[in-house]
Amino acid sequence: MKVRINKFLSEAGVTSRRKAEKLVLEGRVKVNGQVVRDLAFKVDPERDRVEVDGKPVKPQRKRYVILNKPCCYLTQLGPSPDGRKTISELIKNIPERVFPVGRLDYNTEGLLLLTNDGELANRVLHPRYKLPKVYLALVEGKVDQKTLKAMRKGAQLEDGFAKPDAVRLVRYEGKDTLLEVVFHEGRKHIVKRYLAHFGHRVKRLKRTQIGPVKLGKLAPGKWRDLNKGELAQLFKAVGLT
Ligand code: URA
Repeated sequence: MKVRINKFLSEAGVTSRRKAEKLVLEGRVKVNGQVVRDLAFKVDPERDRVEVDGKPVKPQRKRYVILNKPCCYLTQLGPSPDGRKTISELIKNIPERVFPVGRLDYNTEGLLLLTNDGELANRVLHPRYKLPKVYLALVEGKVDQKTLKAMRKGAQLEDGFAKPDAVRLVRYEGKDTLLEVVFHEGRKHIVKRYLAHFGHRVKRLKRTQIGPVKLGKLAPGKWRDLNKGELAQLFKAVGLT
């Protein structure tokens, strides 16, 4: 199937789609020996020979990885301007240009999906596919049954109504409570803001599952490829085959 030249270049890991457009406009991209300056130009990844600055570009294989993000890493690629550690340090040995699917806060731990498959990434994040994201939240104070019931009904936050797919009391831990909370949407700080609305500040947050994919026993700071079974289930869960 033919794809637009900038899409081809970004999927091949050369650069982002926007920067790829710039390369094309600057006349640095050749297809089968001819300079291409037309952004609408389509290439056949199987047949066409694409070069950037005279170097051949090979299509990348699709890669699907999960990382157990530890606390105190930013979910961004490359160094951070303020010197904080970023997840790039944990995925150094992945040659494909994978990017994180959504974000976890600096101090949130757990399951982060990384891929170079833009279509899958969009669907995992889009509320339309209702892909549940499961979190373990250690909150301050004892959550009583009445509050738990209220938490299941939803609440008005400053940027609109929010309602988790499920809330479960896992156990009390001293003066705190461990909750399992499921959301299929990904507004910024949604879990922390939601639980704070009920007067329970989140002390620790960890994502344990995205749709059918579970973090399992993956050690903090480590990554692994999804296996065939997990991939098939994930694709199915977002309507891809
Ligand atoms: N909700 C939050 O509040 N933080 C995260 O990192 C993820 C979901």
